[in-house]
Amino acid sequence: MATPSDPGTVLITGGTSGIGRAVARLLSRQGARVIISGRDESRGQDVATETGGRFLRADLADAEDVRHLVAEAGDVDVLINNAGYWELGPSARTTEPGFDAMVAVNFRGPFFLTAALAPKMAERGHGAIVNVSTMVAARGAAGMAAYGASKAALEALTRSWAAEYGPAGVRVNAVALGPSRTEVTRSMGDMLDSLAAASPLGRANEPEEVAQVIAFLASERARPVTGTVLPVDAGRVSAL
Ligand SMILES: NC(=O)c1ccc[n+]([C@@H]2O[C@H](COP(=O)([O-])OP(=O)(O)OC[C@H]3O[C@@H](n4cnc5c(N)ncnc54)[C@H](OP(=O)(O)O)[C@@H]3O)[C@@H](O)[C@H]2O)c1
Repeated sequence: MATPSDPGTVLITGGTSGIGRAVARLLSRQGARVIISGRDESRGQDVATETGGRFLRADLADAEDVRHLVAEAGDVDVLINNAGYWELGPSARTTEPGFDAMVAVNFRGPFFLTAALAPKMAERGHGAIVNVSTMVAARGAAGMAAYGASKAALEALTRSWAAEYGPAGVRVNAVALGPSRTEVTRSMGDMLDSLAAASPLGRANEPEEVAQVIAFLASERARPVTGTVLPVDAGRVSAL
């Protein structure tokens, strides 16, 4: 069970890379028993070895994989719905498979994973869930319509789940990230920095910084906080 000094058992989706891996590293240093999931066996095993945790292979777009993940993970005190997928480009060029993949990984997978795990947290009377969203769920961005909408759905779930599971002691929050330096944004090169430059702090997030905020929301230090979407974007969505 999670206590102020013991984070308990933590399941991090998309723990094989970027922000998820940084969260796994941080929480394992804080004493958590870490379970990471993703599709890449080799990267997953590397993170499991490094964190002394377990890797469970699961494609969140596959309903059967999600059911297996729930069964194999067992009792989870903290769930980080971090795995994410995006395909950028004009709406007219968004393919149906691309659209379906964004909805499946960013919305449908986290929905059924949480719907299976949160009631078990509620039965035990405690638990925390942190959903990883994006600033483009709240602000329009050309080329990101389907991605932003799929994450806006995840933010709506955050509020609904806070209402649904809060009375049983389960907190649900989200972070809405600005540009962050991870594997997926490396290919953007200078574009990441120009995007980040438009924020008041004028900088991109490092994965370790995002992990600190997620770890706070997941921890007992955030006991009075639920149903919130916390911008982690160097001030971007608050500024003109
Ligand atoms: N980086 C940014 O600038 C930024 C900005 C806003 C929001 N975000 C959000 O932050 C989260 C983490 O992104 P990141 O930047 O750390 O990207 P990343 O390094 O590419 O990591 C994405 C993770 O999601 C997992 N994933 C992708 N598709 C999956 C699927 N079908 N089934 C299971 N796992 C899947 C990947 O695991 P496998 O490859 O092993 O499957 C990987 O571990 C995402 O939700 C993203 O939308 C990132």
